[in-house]
Amino acid sequence: MSKTTAAITAVGAYVPDFVLSNQVLETLVDTNDEWITTRTGIKERRLLKEEGKGTSFLAIQAAQNLIEKSKINPEEIDLVIVATATPDMPVASTSVYVATQIGAVNAFAYDLQAACSSFLYGMSTAAAYIESGRYKKVLLIGADKMSSIIDYTDRATCIIFGDGAGAVLFEPNYEGLGLQDEFLRSDGIGREYLKIDAGGSILPPSEETVKNRQHFVFQDGKTVFKYAVSGMADVSEKIMQRNHLSHNDVDWLVAHQANKRIIDATSSRMGVDESKVLVNIEKYGNTTSATLPLLLSDFEQKFKKGDNLIFAAFGGGFTWGSIYLKWAYDKK
Ligand code: UT7
Repeated sequence: MSKTTAAITAVGAYVPDFVLSNQVLETLVDTNDEWITTRTGIKERRLLKEEGKGTSFLAIQAAQNLIEKSKINPEEIDLVIVATATPDMPVASTSVYVATQIGAVNAFAYDLQAACSSFLYGMSTAAAYIESGRYKKVLLIGADKMSSIIDYTDRATCIIFGDGAGAVLFEPNYEGLGLQDEFLRSDGIGREYLKIDAGGSILPPSEETVKNRQHFVFQDGKTVFKYAVSGMADVSEKIMQRNHLSHNDVDWLVAHQANKRIIDATSSRMGVDESKVLVNIEKYGNTTSATLPLLLSDFEQKFKKGDNLIFAAFGGGFTWGSIYLKWAYDKK
């Protein structure tokens, strides 16, 4: 009997309509379009503005888009994982609500949090369930409403992040397609450089934490940048070596969209031509858990069955890693 691998068999995505451009940010903080474009590659990002709507709203739209496109019956889904750093609430699991709303009534569901690497780690988790033979349909959603934790008076962070969601379905494959290898890493040294100080168990919310703006994302950009450049490039190079892939064998680099300069540094270390590097950071900014599935959705038409995709991500914690996956279908 041939080995069971875990393949991506469908993709969906959603971004909110509201566009926050660099030009509008110029009116909010001391910045300019030229600085943002040259330092990050970002031109605009999408924000979920409607009151009362959280990350689950984004996740549900992305999942419904996948269900409509692939025509799967949501009752057949075994497991729903929502990868997110911005759950609807600190306790009630966002994914459980999402599963119920999309009609995945026979599924169990949970959230997975690893900052900007949440979706990448989620791919590993989803694939392991499929490879073991335990489940047949795992829906992995990467969704973040970053605007809910961003201080729009802080130019170090507000120019970077945006809201969005993407979803993929993992199913068994018997032709050797799907996830081939992974190289996942973490290092607690990163905790001080990218974080939200308050609202967790160390520093619960208080009048003072609100006054001190400690519920917003803090980032020491320069330090994170240094670690991200070397971390993402290292793991991508290692996974190529371990699988005897030359730059010619790599069809697509699917890298976390945090900064165009980090993506360029990774692709140049891998020796991969610019034409194979997927980029949509100019439209969405850094959507945290949604960057990788949003790339898959935007570029789905280009992928061919058997293509070699290298995924790479780096995020708070620090968390980072790389995944080698063979694409499993041609787009009709
Ligand atoms: O997704 C999770 C992982 N996160 C990342 O990977 C993000 C990693 N970090 C970065 O992408 C970059 O560090 C940033 C985009 C956040 C910042 O770019 P940078 O090239 O590292 O800039 P910097 O912080 O070194 O600042 C350079 C200069 C400073 O001025 P001086 O000291 O040279 O006079 C800053 O004050 O740019 C200034 N600056 C800005 N100027 C205009 C910082 N932010 C801004 C701004 N607009 N928004």
